[in-house]
Amino acid sequence: MRHLMSPLDFTVEELDRLFDLASDMEQNMGKYAHACKGKKLATCFYEPSTRTRLSFESAMLNLGGSVIGFSDAGSSSASKGESVSDTIRVISCFADICAMRHPKEGAPMVAAEKASIPVINAGDGGHQHPTQTLTDLLTIRSLRGRLDHFTIGLCGDLKFGRTVHSLIHALVRYPGIRFIFISPEELKVPDYITEMLREKDIPFEEVIRLEEIMPQLDFLYMTRVQRERFFNEEDYVRLKDFYILNKEKMNLAKENMLVLHPLPRVNEISVDVDEDPRAAYFRQVQYGVYVRMALILTLLEIEVK
Ligand code: NCD
Repeated sequence: MRHLMSPLDFTVEELDRLFDLASDMEQNMGKYAHACKGKKLATCFYEPSTRTRLSFESAMLNLGGSVIGFSDAGSSSASKGESVSDTIRVISCFADICAMRHPKEGAPMVAAEKASIPVINAGDGGHQHPTQTLTDLLTIRSLRGRLDHFTIGLCGDLKFGRTVHSLIHALVRYPGIRFIFISPEELKVPDYITEMLREKDIPFEEVIRLEEIMPQLDFLYMTRVQRERFFNEEDYVRLKDFYILNKEKMNLAKENMLVLHPLPRVNEISVDVDEDPRAAYFRQVQYGVYVRMALILTLLEIEVK
């Protein structure tokens, strides 16, 4: 039995197969409409979510399966003091597969050890968010035809942003990737990540100003300042509007650069950018459904001929 805790749990070849399957789903939705008939997905979300939870649920419904779950810790037995290990043992009796989001780093991994069904990490604290990464990679591959030889700028909260951490880990496996990290001093990418990049000889730069590097980028991955992970509100207020991507800044970018964002957006992308054909963040949400459909089938080992 297989779980998904980190994007590195799949080899590059396995990811290719997963993305091929997701692309086939995009083209031939009907073919998969009954693939998960009789199967149940449990979504156990101890932290707020709109996209990830509903994307999982809609993926399972598209596959003809059904969905159970809870969307906040307060409405689950966690509020009575139940441990994640006990909850997952119980969920294993009800469902065939589980997607779990938790504010504590490593909680889904603890669950996976005790589960008798596949567990998917749907975001654990500031650590990882592998299914967002699968979404990001499928978006890049679908819109640009490949996953190698790009300069990608990651901008905003690179310290607490788990989507950023997962995406960097996944992209280093493709040749010719160069990173530009754009953040205020306080929100720089963690040392363990820059050390890993140095070890692997992957080129990266750290800058504060977005404008100066904009013309170099093939992708700009914008992120929200992660308010819920700050220790004090003052720091959040000081940093929250540090970057605002607007039309003027978009004018500095390549004609075919693409803007990605895991969403939710707060202020970091002005709504006037939404009409720009290079704004890909809402298309990205749609790719998230296809890739989660492909993931569910893969982990349940269901083949559709
Ligand atoms: C992200 C998350 O939860 O980490 N959202 C998402 O799943 N698309 C990004 C964020 O909350 O900023």
